[in-house]
Amino acid sequence: MLQFTNRVPFKAVAAPALYFTRYKSWFTDVKMAPPDAILGLTEAFLKDKNPKRVNLGVGAYRDDNSKPWVLPSVKEAQKRVIAKNMNKEYAPIQGLADFYNKSIALALGEDSDILKNNCNATVQSLSGTGALRIGAAFLGLFWKGERVVYLPTPTWPNHRPIFMHSGLKVANYSYYDPNKRALNEQALFESLCKIPEKSIVLLHACAHNPTGVDPNAEQWCEISRIMKSRNLYAFFDMAYLGFASGDIDNDALAVRIFSAEGHTFCLAQSYAKNMGLYGERVGSFTLVCNSKDEAERVTSNLKTIIRAMYSSPPIHGARIAMEIFKDDELYCVWLDDLKTMANRTISMRKELKEKLISLGSKHSWEHITNQIGMFCYTGLKAEQVSRLIKEYSIYLTKDGRIAVVGLTTKNVAYVAESIHAVTK
Ligand SMILES: Cc1ncc(COP(=O)(O)O)c(C=O)c1O
Repeated sequence: MLQFTNRVPFKAVAAPALYFTRYKSWFTDVKMAPPDAILGLTEAFLKDKNPKRVNLGVGAYRDDNSKPWVLPSVKEAQKRVIAKNMNKEYAPIQGLADFYNKSIALALGEDSDILKNNCNATVQSLSGTGALRIGAAFLGLFWKGERVVYLPTPTWPNHRPIFMHSGLKVANYSYYDPNKRALNEQALFESLCKIPEKSIVLLHACAHNPTGVDPNAEQWCEISRIMKSRNLYAFFDMAYLGFASGDIDNDALAVRIFSAEGHTFCLAQSYAKNMGLYGERVGSFTLVCNSKDEAERVTSNLKTIIRAMYSSPPIHGARIAMEIFKDDELYCVWLDDLKTMANRTISMRKELKEKLISLGSKHSWEHITNQIGMFCYTGLKAEQVSRLIKEYSIYLTKDGRIAVVGLTTKNVAYVAESIHAVTK
């Protein structure tokens, strides 16, 4: 029989030096990955001792006291969810049906033919990024056309790696005119016309990130017409539904135009911004199909992809969203919350523009109020951005993008004075 009484104490053989030299390292050639540009900004902001410091880098809503805002509708919904004392069993692979069915209905409209004919393959996702990731994985496996996803220039930096990770190539199409600080309509249309047939085109459904510049209804119709005639496939990224204008139907315009025009497309939705559920990771992914049968086959494969990625989605955030969706009164509170966020953002745009004008700035700042959503592409150059950070403790990304939601009635004058100082 084994005797344990004379065993050498564990700490005697597990001295750190011995431990670390005993094993071969498999990863000596792994290089340090570049830090995330936006998180890096926040770190620098937090270290800054200047009492006037302003963080205009982060894409998360702040109230007029620069504090994160838990929506009243979300607070109430969460209270109700907790009061139900539900179990914490796994969700089905595709998520909570009452959540994802309502999610796609919000985007397409309750009376959508796609929904009436059960032509949508919809699943819950880990917020917008997860939805993009599921879509990219599905296209990576099943797309039979050109295996290239065309992204607008510029775009949200995460788009490129998301598609590349799924074995798809990425390329760009023209979108923004830096001189006019507006949509480059002609370049956009020409660029779309040149994309090889049967390619995938990523479209920001509303509140384009980073520029805040969206096509108008007429321009969306033309984009739809070109894409149809060129046999191009639309992948909509809808991270700001209702957040951009405060009106869901308004912000869903592009997707509804494509749907009315008979496109089949896919759609990533997020509830990070419009419900303030950033950390809960609530979203959905939909692939519009030609028939119920096709939708069922696609759904079965989406489930296979999800099963291997993370098995099933988290439940708490989706339950909160479901509470809001199913109670008419609470739903109206949410619609008001959306307006509160959109209106504060719009009023900050106005104030920033007006303050710059009243300071005597010779530049045109019209684009600040023409652009919509969380971000404004100011047109500030890299050296002006760097002066704003170093001399004024105002933090924004190198490309001159500011998160308008970081402005408040207390800091907007200081931000305007600082921008005026570096652009004189
Ligand atoms: C254009 C765009 N797409 C997708 C996302 C995904 O956000 P999340 O994964 O937090 O829902 C964001 C967030 O900033 C975004 O701006």
